[in-house]
Amino acid sequence: MDIIKDLFGQKEKAPALTKDAFEKLPRHVGIIMDGNGRWAKQHKLGVALGHRQGVESLREIIRHTDDLGIGSLSIYAFSTENWNRSPEEVGALMQLILEFFASEIDELDEKNVRILILGEKDVFPPRQRETLIRAEERTADNTGLILNICLNYGSRAELTRAARLIAEDVAAGRLNADEVTEKTISDRLYTAGQPDVDLMIRTSGEMRLSNFLLWQCAYAEFLFPTVLWPDFTVADYDEALLAYGGRERRFGGRLK
Ligand code: IPE
Ligand code: IPE
Ligand code: MG
Repeated sequence: MDIIKDLFGQKEKAPALTKDAFEKLPRHVGIIMDGNGRWAKQHKLGVALGHRQGVESLREIIRHTDDLGIGSLSIYAFSTENWNRSPEEVGALMQLILEFFASEIDELDEKNVRILILGEKDVFPPRQRETLIRAEERTADNTGLILNICLNYGSRAELTRAARLIAEDVAAGRLNADEVTEKTISDRLYTAGQPDVDLMIRTSGEMRLSNFLLWQCAYAEFLFPTVLWPDFTVADYDEALLAYGGRERRFGGRLK
C-alpha cells in the first residue's frame, strides 16, 4: 500500500488539525475540485481513474469539514459545461455518482449531514436522478453539515432560474416588482438560507470561477493551490483554512 502511495506521489499524511488550531473558520467553504485529468495524464492513466482518485480526496475533505464543525461545504462536481466532454468521460462520471452515493450515504446520514444537490436533476439518466433525489430526501431533516453537491450546476443557470421564479411570483400577484430585493434573489437560489461562501478553493492552479457560485462568492476569499485535486490532502486543506484565518476581510469598509 505504501509503495502504491509512493508511486502515486502522495505526500506523507500529516495529522489533521482540530478546531482549536484555528483562530477563525469559514462558515461556508466552496471547492472547485480541479485537476483530475492532469493527474491521470501524469500517471499515464485514463481520465476515469483520475476522477476515481478525486473521489478519494473528496471523502477525506468532507469528513474533515464535518469534524471541524464548518456549516456548509459546496463542491463543484459536474458543471453545465462538462456535458461537452466525451461520452466515455461523461459516462465514467455518471458511474462515479452512483458509486459515491452507494458507498457514502450511510455514513453521511449517520453523521447528520444534509445533502443538497445544486443543479437541475431532470437531465440526469433515471438511476442517477433517483439516487440524487433519494439522498436529498433521506437527509432532509439532518441538522449537521450542509453538503452542497453541485451537479449539472452553473451559476448562470441558477440565477436564470431565480429570475424565472421571481417573474412567476410577480405574474401571479404574490410579489410586487418594487419589493424585489437581494434577499428575494438569494432566497430563490439553491443555497437559500445558507451563508455566502467565505472561502473558495480551486485546486490545480487554474484561477477562474468557471461558472461556480458567482452570487454566493461576492465577498469570498480565494485560494488557488497548485496541487491537483486527487493529491489534495487534509493537510493542504488545513493550510488553506489557516491562510483564510489570516485574511483581512473588509467588505468595503475600513478597519480601524
Ligand atoms: C475536475 O477535473 C473534475 C471535473 C470537471 C468533473 P478535470 O477533469 O477538469 O481535470 P483537468 O482540468 O482536466 O486536469
Ligand atoms: C470546473 O472545472 C468544473 C468542475 C470542477 C466540476 P473545469 O475543468 O470543467 O473548468 P474549465 O473548463 O477549466 O474552466
Ligand atoms: Mg479542469
